[in-house]
Amino acid sequence: MGVDEIDFQHRRIIDTVNGLADLLKRGDPPGMEILHHMPGLCEWVEQHFATEMSILTLTDYPDLDYHDALHSAFVSEVMGMFRTIQNDLRGVEELVIFLAGWLENHIVEIDVPASEYFKEGHIIRETNSGS
Ligand SMILES: [Fe+2]
Ligand SMILES: [Fe+2]
Repeated sequence: MGVDEIDFQHRRIIDTVNGLADLLKRGDPPGMEILHHMPGLCEWVEQHFATEMSILTLTDYPDLDYHDALHSAFVSEVMGMFRTIQNDLRGVEELVIFLAGWLENHIVEIDVPASEYFKEGHIIRETNSGS
């Protein structure tokens, strides 16, 4: 994708979700183990969304609010599913499939074009403009 920190975070998130998908494929019920990984994954994802927003805020990127709203909607959806699963582990497969599908689609459809926009040099603010 080209913005190093974002690329690194995407890889880490995708690797983790792929790891959860591998756990699902194992025969024994993997629900508890997957649940155990969820808080860490959610933390990375939220940290990543914040990084993306702070980088895009440096540009005149036109779809910032829309992009931010997509992130927020995703977080609400995952939180809802996570709450359900704590009472009924059967939802864990649905959660992992949703995570993998949403993240892949979002990265390709939204993040890559946003990153291209940044790389094209639409910068309106310095990276460390602490005043
Ligand atoms: Fe992203
Ligand atoms: Fe994004």
